[in-house]
Amino acid sequence: MERLEGKRAIVTGAGSGIGRAIALRLASEGARVTLADIDEGAAKKVAAEIGDETLVQKTDVTKPDDVKALVSRVLSEWGGLDVMVNNAGIGIAATAPDTSEEDFDRVMSVNVRGTFLGMKFAIPAIRDSGGGSVVNMSSIAALVGLTDRAAYCAAKGAILAMTRAAAVDHVGEGVRVNCIAPGTVETPWVTRITAGYDDPEEARARMQARQPHGRFVQPEEIAAMAAYLASDEAASVIGACMVVDGGMTAR
Ligand SMILES: NC(=O)c1ccc[n+]([C@@H]2O[C@H](COP(=O)([O-])OP(=O)(O)OC[C@H]3O[C@@H](n4cnc5c(N)ncnc54)[C@H](O)[C@@H]3O)[C@@H](O)[C@H]2O)c1
Repeated sequence: MERLEGKRAIVTGAGSGIGRAIALRLASEGARVTLADIDEGAAKKVAAEIGDETLVQKTDVTKPDDVKALVSRVLSEWGGLDVMVNNAGIGIAATAPDTSEEDFDRVMSVNVRGTFLGMKFAIPAIRDSGGGSVVNMSSIAALVGLTDRAAYCAAKGAILAMTRAAAVDHVGEGVRVNCIAPGTVETPWVTRITAGYDDPEEARARMQARQPHGRFVQPEEIAAMAAYLASDEAASVIGACMVVDGGMTAR
């Protein structure tokens, strides 16, 4: 029997990068996956890669009605929810003085409000389905000061704090809440960030070199951690921040 057989999962931001890899991995381990993304076309492409037993729901995680509808759809189509992966997030490269108020609000909204809404609507659904797992996507930006990432560090720090709060609130209901703190992962997001520097290749090399294993983390490596946290093997992992960073924060 597959490790995630019978589990009904939602992955937000499933149309690209880490979310795509998580959706593929959960499905490969036997879960039924609902792919939620603001970019419906991208999510549909990933669903086609997976094949059957998927749902695609266009979702803006900053909008309560969207997230509520997402969870409701899974409950009505599959009769319950076992795993919620709050992965959708955005980042910008800037110091605090260089960050506009609008960009700060946008980064906080997608990351923090999005994760909050995901937990707000998914936790009761998971509890009423007999218990399960919430996996939030933080970052090593929550743990160390990254240059040029003031708003992003704030947002990912908030996700870590909210993960711990929710973990203790809901452990008695059979809902485990954890987060993952990836280092720099090779996704379209990294390409967009490095494109904003004068010398994108130099920025790319610098981002790889800051990880002691000398390369980008691969999305599949984050997906492996998400699958573990989603599984019953992680039954005693509660309120944890699982670092997958090539040793970056070990220095
Ligand atoms: N790539 C990295 O180095 C890295 C490191 C640490 C943490 N993370 C986090 O991992 C998550 C995924 O990042 P990625 O690198 O795969 O990015 P990505 O840009 O490749 O994918 C993000 C996905 O989220 C979707 N999305 C954006 N805004 C949305 C919204 N409002 N509602 C729903 N979907 C939305 C996008 O359409 C896209 O499909 C993010 O939370 C990011 O902060 C990434």
